[in-house]
Amino acid sequence: MANLIDSITASRVWRSFFRHGWPDTEINRSLVMTTNIFFHLHPVKVSRKSLRASSTWGLGVIATILFIILTLTGILIMFYYVPSTEMAYDSIIILQTKVLYGQLMRNMHRWAAHAMVLVVVLHMLRVFYTGAYKPPREFNWVVGVFLLLMTLGASFTGYLLPWDQLSFWAITVGTNIAGYAPLIGPKMRFMLLGGFEVGQNALIRFYALHIMALPLLMAGAASVHIWRVRKDGGLAMQGGQEELLDIE
Ligand code: HEM
Repeated sequence: MANLIDSITASRVWRSFFRHGWPDTEINRSLVMTTNIFFHLHPVKVSRKSLRASSTWGLGVIATILFIILTLTGILIMFYYVPSTEMAYDSIIILQTKVLYGQLMRNMHRWAAHAMVLVVVLHMLRVFYTGAYKPPREFNWVVGVFLLLMTLGASFTGYLLPWDQLSFWAITVGTNIAGYAPLIGPKMRFMLLGGFEVGQNALIRFYALHIMALPLLMAGAASVHIWRVRKDGGLAMQGGQEELLDIE
């Protein structure tokens, strides 16, 4: 049996996945951590306090998971949704009533979107409460602010897509408010809508922002954000630098 395991772990196929041997030596244990993307997201040393569930409530991680759920359910919805003023509403009705698990996908997408706004705001409050916006984490705070704005932007643009009365009037009111911003307001409203009223141009613009531009920017910013947590020395420690735990 031991021979079999040895020959499997020494094979070229195994080595193409894992560049280290069995984690039974110090060096192999270190390699397990540093050659695996998920383990490598964590810093080599962490403080005991930051490991407590109550230091973060896992809110950043929950926001990341919600983003992944939104991406997956969004891709499935895109197989049926048609971004045209003639067909958008009907395509959503067909998705809900005729497509297997269509209603589940739509509801998961909608609830995950609501939850993400709530969770990201709570995450921001937690970061503020634990003073994690202070140097050296001020850059990551700014990345976070962009992530919050993009999360709100994704919710806003998604709201128009079902093309029902609620969508139409919510976006009419929302873009009218944007139009009152000093100096750039009217131009911004025109750019968003592709005209002076909510119509086909607005729908296709909101669709492009919702399914492509914002998700890509968010995925990029979230990657920098999570990478930066590691580079800033792990989570902010509440109560000083004592008790560093060496996990290597
Ligand atoms: C899409 C939205 C966001 C995602 C996916 C996200 C993800 C994460 C993750 C996974 C962490 C690691 C620890 C944790 O769970 O708390 C983290 C930490 C952090 N986040 Fe976010 N975040 C988002 C939005 C924000 C916002 C809105 C802010 C503030 C304006 C922010 C500021 C920070 C800071 C400063 C840290 C480091 C905290 C520390 O060192 O204790 N993030 N974020």
